[in-house]
Amino acid sequence: MSWTRDPHGRSAPTRGILPPVTHDRPVEARGRRLVRVDELGERGVVEVKTDDYGVLAVGMTPAGAAFATGNICRHQFAKLGRGRVTESGCLECPWHRARYDVTDGTMREGPKGRVFGFKPYSSAVEALGRRLKLTTYPVEIRDGVIYLSEAD
Ligand code: FES
Repeated sequence: MSWTRDPHGRSAPTRGILPPVTHDRPVEARGRRLVRVDELGERGVVEVKTDDYGVLAVGMTPAGAAFATGNICRHQFAKLGRGRVTESGCLECPWHRARYDVTDGTMREGPKGRVFGFKPYSSAVEALGRRLKLTTYPVEIRDGVIYLSEAD
């Protein structure tokens, strides 16, 4: 099945018909050193495996703000680091395109698509995602590399 024609309208290519709930070769952090900015690719976000926090979604907005958040979508648990960063700077789930504010982890838009985009359903998931925020981690950029901040 082509990922561009499925009923969910996936925002990033994932194989198969099941949610991408598995990791896809996360970058290995070295201590607080997470990932080089030039490793983020066109999606603007990758999964990074850390010693202290497990696998995080780490990326950068088009405005140049780096972020690190929890990696699990509040809808059907897809790995957010396999999604993309939107033009407006939201982290978008690869599966049904729920969107998260990377500054506070709040879901800003519920799932979309022919199946899960049904407005009452999508709004209910969004309300849940406003309460069950993603954890966010303070980060900083030094010499083109995203680091966890010392202050966390
Ligand atoms: S699994 Fe993320 S929007 Fe459905």
